Amino acid sequence: MHGTIFTLLKRYVQTQYDHSTWVNLLEASGLSATDFNHKNVYPDEHLYRLVGEAATMTGLSADELHEKFGEYLVPDLMYMYQKLVKPEWTTLDMIEHTENTMHRQVRAEHAGNTPPVLNVTRLSSDELFIDYVSVRRMGALAVGIVRGLAKYYDEADQIEVEPTTSENGEHVRIRVRRVSR
Ligand code: HEM
Repeated sequence: MHGTIFTLLKRYVQTQYDHSTWVNLLEASGLSATDFNHKNVYPDEHLYRLVGEAATMTGLSADELHEKFGEYLVPDLMYMYQKLVKPEWTTLDMIEHTENTMHRQVRAEHAGNTPPVLNVTRLSSDELFIDYVSVRRMGALAVGIVRGLAKYYDEADQIEVEPTTSENGEHVRIRVRRVSR
């Protein structure tokens, strides 16, 4: 997995908890205190261990943590890839275009980058579903990213996000709707 994701996980733990929690987490995961470099790719196993240990420490489930972390990631991802983001897009457009813009660019940057395939079916201007496909089984992270996008675009109170399959499979379907309140 992309070093940026690890760097942001480190910052997430340091800001939501504190630096010593991060150090404890590394130790509990059997990892050394290296800094993650955004140009490198690190084993997925390290991320699973860190999130697993964080779940044990906080009492939250791994799914809940993935969701919270996904939400947290969005402003940085948007900033890093801002050149690819069209100013007129809002939450649903971003989701619709991720596969052919941001994730395509991520794949092109490094042969080791393998973001999930997001097959998006746009049902109307206010509704779509995402078919998430990845051996990493991180559908919960995808749900969190969608929530983070809704917050980013100031649509959090209108966007409904609902996984219609288990969040833990290699195929996860997520329904996203904009409702007027
Ligand atoms: C600005 C938009 C986005 C950017 C720049 C971005 C970038 C990235 C990057 C760099 C990775 C790591 C890939 C790797 O290490 O192989 C990743 C993984 C991931 N992305 Fe995105 N992403 C974006 C939007 C989205 C959206 C909208 C979703 C879901 C709806 C999503 C779901 C995921 C998930 C779940 C992963 C974890 C890896 C996996 O499950 O296989 N991303 N993304």
